[in-house]
Amino acid sequence: MQKAIISFVIFALLGFGLGYLVFGVIMGDSAKQPQVAQTETKDEATTKEENTAATSSANEDNILNQKGCLGCHSVEALNIKGGAVGPDLSQAFVNVEGKHGKPIQEFLKQPTSAVMSGVISKSPLTDDERKQVLDLLKQASEAK
Ligand code: HEC
Repeated sequence: MQKAIISFVIFALLGFGLGYLVFGVIMGDSAKQPQVAQTETKDEATTKEENTAATSSANEDNILNQKGCLGCHSVEALNIKGGAVGPDLSQAFVNVEGKHGKPIQEFLKQPTSAVMSGVISKSPLTDDERKQVLDLLKQASEAK
C-alpha cells in the first residue's frame, strides 16, 4: 500500500513537472506572437505616416498652393489643409454666386470682396490657372 502511495506521488510530481514544461514551451511560443503583431502594427503606422506625407506632398503640386491660396484657405473636402484667414473652399464652386453676387468664374477675375480683390489685383490668375482652380473646386464640391 505504501508503495502505491509513493509511486502515485512520484507520478503526480512527474506529471505536473512535464505539464509545467510543456505549458512553459507553449506559453513561451505564444508570448512571442503578440510581439510579432506589435512590430506589424508599428510597420502599419509607419506606412500610414508615409501615406500622409505623400498626400501632403501631392497637395504641394496643386494650383492653390502654387498661387499661395493655401496661405488663407483650406479645402477640407479634398483634404487640402491651409490657413484659416479665408473661408474653406470646399463648397465655393456652388456657393460663391449666392455669397458674392457673381459666379465663381467672374469672382476669380474680379472679386467683389475686399481681401480677395487685393489678392487678385496683386497676382491675377491666368485663364489657365483660373481653369485649374475651378476644376479643383468643382471636384471639391462633388467630393462628399
Ligand atoms: C490673404 C489671404 C487670402 C489669400 C492669399 C487668398 N484668399 Fe481667397 N479669400 C480670403 C478671404 C478673407 C475671403 C473671404 C471674402 C473676403 O473677405 O474677401 C476669401 C474668399 C475667397 C473665395 C470666396 C469663397 C467664399 O466662400 O466666400 C474664393 C473662391 C477664394 N477666396 C479663392 C481664392 C483663390 C483661388 C486664391 C488663390 C489665388 C485665394 N482665394 C487666395 C483670403 C485670401
